[in-house]
Amino acid sequence: LEKMSLRAAVITLSDKGAAGEREDKSGPAIAGRLKEAGYEVIEEILIPDEEALLKKELIRLCDQRFPHLILTTGGTGFAPRDMTPEATLAVADKEAQGVAEAIRYASMQITRKAMLSRGRAVIRKKTLIVNLPGSPKACMESMDAFMNTIEHGLELLQ
Ligand code: MTE
Repeated sequence: LEKMSLRAAVITLSDKGAAGEREDKSGPAIAGRLKEAGYEVIEEILIPDEEALLKKELIRLCDQRFPHLILTTGGTGFAPRDMTPEATLAVADKEAQGVAEAIRYASMQITRKAMLSRGRAVIRKKTLIVNLPGSPKACMESMDAFMNTIEHGLELLQ
């Protein structure tokens, strides 16, 4: 069977990044890793930590651009402005708890601080949305936890 060609989008949540006060390293690192894995990266977006903005971008991507996978980075912690999980859940049709559990389980073997990410994984229409923490290191560790296994799920979603 021919391998499905997979499309992905990356959204970075960062007030400082969006204001041009900090270089976003996580977004490019995630996009690079996706491309290595054979994904076409159709959009890379950098926005401030605003719930309404994230919801709008998630809905636009899922409903008009039809990626198989959207990875977000940042805004999953306990800080007052962190709202990525809430925005993600608000646009969800279903939760994909196992993916978020796998990320936290694998990350907990690396650092106890993994418990401080509230990241979720959800399905909207035919798109899987996964929240990754903000640091490039945490993003790569998280992708190690699910990237190999996720493709079967993405095929089932179609
Ligand atoms: N997960 C992994 N794999 N590696 C890490 O270094 N850092 C944690 C956690 N998850 C970490 C991780 C820390 S310190 C925090 S505060 C939370 O992710 C939330 O990060 P965020 O607020 O940047 O999304």
